[in-house]
Amino acid sequence: MAAKIIAVANMKGGVGKTATVVCLAEALAATGARVLVIDVDAQANASLVIGGDHQLAELIENRLTIDGYLDDYYLGEKKLTLADCIMPKASDVTHGPDHLAISLLASSPELRLLEREIMIALTERGIGLNAVIGRLSRLLETQLAKVSRRYDYILIDCAPGISAITEASLRIADLVLVPTIPDFLSTAGLQAFCNSVWKGSRFGKGVAKEGVQPRVLVTRRRETREHRRFIEEMANERYKPEPAFKLMKTQIPERTSIAEAMGKTGSEPTFTNKWGPEVVPILEALAKETKEAVNGT
Ligand SMILES: Nc1ncnc2c1ncn2[C@@H]1O[C@H](COP(=O)(O)OP(=O)(O)OP(=O)(O)O)[C@@H](O)[C@H]1O
Ligand SMILES: [Mg+2]
Repeated sequence: MAAKIIAVANMKGGVGKTATVVCLAEALAATGARVLVIDVDAQANASLVIGGDHQLAELIENRLTIDGYLDDYYLGEKKLTLADCIMPKASDVTHGPDHLAISLLASSPELRLLEREIMIALTERGIGLNAVIGRLSRLLETQLAKVSRRYDYILIDCAPGISAITEASLRIADLVLVPTIPDFLSTAGLQAFCNSVWKGSRFGKGVAKEGVQPRVLVTRRRETREHRRFIEEMANERYKPEPAFKLMKTQIPERTSIAEAMGKTGSEPTFTNKWGPEVVPILEALAKETKEAVNGT
């Protein structure tokens, strides 16, 4: 069976995209699934949290990152395959006798400038922006197809804003998760994401794939009136004639333990100790609901 691709994206920054990728990767792996995390954000946050700083430094030094691969493919000698850049057994988190089965395709800060260079090089060859994104998504699709059987789930951590590689990732995804803080600005950002990125505008077509509808995941939920009100508003989306998204039942609360878990690399924590007794059941629910959503059950 080919792996299911799950992209985690939101135009808005700081809404918990990376935290969602880390939570979900570990929660899925804790159920015995084989997971590949792909970081397409130049901040390399997911790479750092999953791989740890030593491993990440080594990958960057050897250019075994997504930008290293794209650099070689578009501007270099085409010596690498995407598989060459994947680090197996990247997680130091244990569960029972084993480490969680999480592999990592890291990114580096170079990705930001490289993306610009690729754009320039391809447009100089007369290829328009939409065609560049089309090429990029086909390249990712073809390269991922070669490794797809090694994994059950491929999670992509997208950058805030919308870059060519984020758009390409959204196009190839079987499921798109949109982490959203239930407050005024984040829900406004959600509308912007659904209207401009998903559906497209007169400036270009959207990334919406047949049969795929974005799933909103409430993150950093607090027990306040404001948060309850915005959650209710998002839940009411389902009554619209053409709902722009579906709301996940699972919600991620705001917890210091979740923020702290991001920094627990390099200490070989157990899955249960890393997240703590309150968060583990939430992660289990998130893994279960995501599996159902992506497998259409
Ligand atoms: N549920 C949570 N409870 C408490 N803190 C959280 C939670 N989720 C994320 N955070 C913290 O909030 C900050 C932003 O989270 P995160 O980096 O996951 O967001 P992001 O959407 O990936 O940001 P960016 O747009 O910069 O990539 C981080 O400091 C993270 O540790
Ligand atoms: Mg992030």
